[in-house]
Amino acid sequence: MTTYTHTDYENAVQVIRSKVNQTPRVGLVLGSGLGGLADRLENRVAVADHEIPGWPVSTVEGHQGKLVFGTLEGVPVVAQQGRAHFYEGYSLQQVTFPVRVMQMLGIETLILTNAAGGLNTAYHTGDVMMLNDHINFVGMVGHNPLMGPNDDRIGPRFLGMVQTYDRALRAAARQAAKAEGLLLHEGVYVCLSGPNFETPAEIRMLRTLGGDAVGMSTVHEVLVARHMGVRVMAFSGITNEAIDSVDVDLETNHEEVLDAGKIIVPKLERLVRGVLRSL
Ligand code: HPA
Repeated sequence: MTTYTHTDYENAVQVIRSKVNQTPRVGLVLGSGLGGLADRLENRVAVADHEIPGWPVSTVEGHQGKLVFGTLEGVPVVAQQGRAHFYEGYSLQQVTFPVRVMQMLGIETLILTNAAGGLNTAYHTGDVMMLNDHINFVGMVGHNPLMGPNDDRIGPRFLGMVQTYDRALRAAARQAAKAEGLLLHEGVYVCLSGPNFETPAEIRMLRTLGGDAVGMSTVHEVLVARHMGVRVMAFSGITNEAIDSVDVDLETNHEEVLDAGKIIVPKLERLVRGVLRSL
């Protein structure tokens, strides 16, 4: 399993600083098919993932593999265009390496996005859900990026999870949605490892347990960001409606996930701009 020392994070920070002369305040993590948001930054400077030592390079289609710096609504931001996933074979320390590096570069707030399947039957393809809580199945089976030795100077051994999705940021997003006339759901994200999509029986189970959307990312990054004291908010783009019956002529696939991203990116842009204006 690949783990890191403090020096590994510092090396990555140093390489990035040698290429980019900007100090970001906000980090954006852009999920499957949602990378287009980074193209909207002004004064863009990009660093390719493979140029940064230790960086986990995503192997998934729809993830561009760049770290893009710039401003949005006048706020200096850094956007991670493409993320690594646990199912690609990366350790959770690798998956969350970019979050630690972004914090060391200066971010105080992290806005994460992902593609997710809609469990809640009121959700439709192309909708956006803001996370207000999560269920971490990957953590429950013993995979957590905070496992191992804890550096008490960075964060606590036992992290509280009640105040995870920042209430002030959520209020700002709600207000932005209202001002923009956008439908914004709020709900519980269920994190599974993937890479296979869920069976209909699993979908019915996750719904019963209180999940509103299901995906294969985000929660690990949220844990690490909160451990470092970074304010967090997250959005799921609902790219497909979860299929809860075996007696239908349907199958979930990655192409529909990427297609729906095109409808979702402009909505996310309006929400993120609204939140940034509120900072
Ligand atoms: N399930 C899990 N992850 C996903 C889905 C899904 O239906 N859609 C996009 N990511």
